[in-house]
Amino acid sequence: MPTTLLQSNLPGLDLIHRGKVRDVYALSDDRLLIVATDRLSAFDVVLPDPIPGKGEMLTQISNFWFDKTAHIIPNHLLEVPLGEVLPAGTDLSLYAGRAVVTRRLKPVPVEAIARGYLIGSGWKDYQATGKLCGIALPPGLKQAQQLPEPIFTPSTKAAVGDHDENVSFDAVVDAVGRELAEKVRDATLAIYRWAAAYAAERGIIIADTKFEFGTDASGKLYVMDEMLTPDSSRFWPADEYRTGISPPSYDKQFVRDYLETLDWNKKAPGPHVPGEIIERTRAKYAEALERLAGIRLD
Ligand SMILES: Nc1ncnc2c1ncn2[C@@H]1O[C@H](COP(=O)(O)OP(=O)(O)O)[C@@H](O)[C@H]1O
Ligand SMILES: [Mg+2]
Repeated sequence: MPTTLLQSNLPGLDLIHRGKVRDVYALSDDRLLIVATDRLSAFDVVLPDPIPGKGEMLTQISNFWFDKTAHIIPNHLLEVPLGEVLPAGTDLSLYAGRAVVTRRLKPVPVEAIARGYLIGSGWKDYQATGKLCGIALPPGLKQAQQLPEPIFTPSTKAAVGDHDENVSFDAVVDAVGRELAEKVRDATLAIYRWAAAYAAERGIIIADTKFEFGTDASGKLYVMDEMLTPDSSRFWPADEYRTGISPPSYDKQFVRDYLETLDWNKKAPGPHVPGEIIERTRAKYAEALERLAGIRLD
């Protein structure tokens, strides 16, 4: 049975970060406990109502891809039974599907984005400059058009509330050094290519996706955080794909459409969302989990 959790509560553990979705705890031996909650954000504001089971679905989608892509790059997951790290008395069923124990890595300070299609901020930048992150693209491309080949379009990780900004590959080199920048770029494109081909066989286009990477004490590179989820990717049903439009977001379409009907200034606190919208959103996450990972809840 899926569980609902808006905020984790693990007394005695060292909470080091409450993100938009994840609560992160430091464990001994350079490890983390990462709990994906059911929080939903829209327009970068966390909404007050949970999407039941969302954190479990996100965790299972990520774990699926971490496993599938382990031949391309190592990932942050550690195989430690949760019972060993959760405080005594914790309701294990609340955390079993949504928490993972990971290596605690030093984040590479860049959002590693791969794009196979021209959409979102990529489309905006292309319209304004003909380029994307300093990469010149052919003229005359349409909105949502497939790019000649997937490209690496890094962006800076913005502080809470700010929007990320696309930067050039050279800016990444300046920030982290050429060797690491090239490793991150190559891993980003390799994972994207592999996953896009996998999803295509299941009728889903991965238009673009964002990865986060980190290094361990020896400098080895791992993919971390979440991977190829509806929150970090644009998934489009292949049978509805066409150029010239902005295909609706796979998961947040109902919530965003609803919020646009309100007189809300898109600043915190976010408004409550009707049960029907919550349920339709939940169903989209379940659909992504089933179509991509072949995992059915219930
Ligand atoms: N293995 C890891 N080591 C260190 N930091 C990590 C690791 N995996 C994920 N993180 C960080 O944990 C946080 C996850 O919380 P999340 O809710 O996704 O935050 P955000 O609102 O910043 O997206 C992010 O800041 C992410 O960079
Ligand atoms: Mg995140």
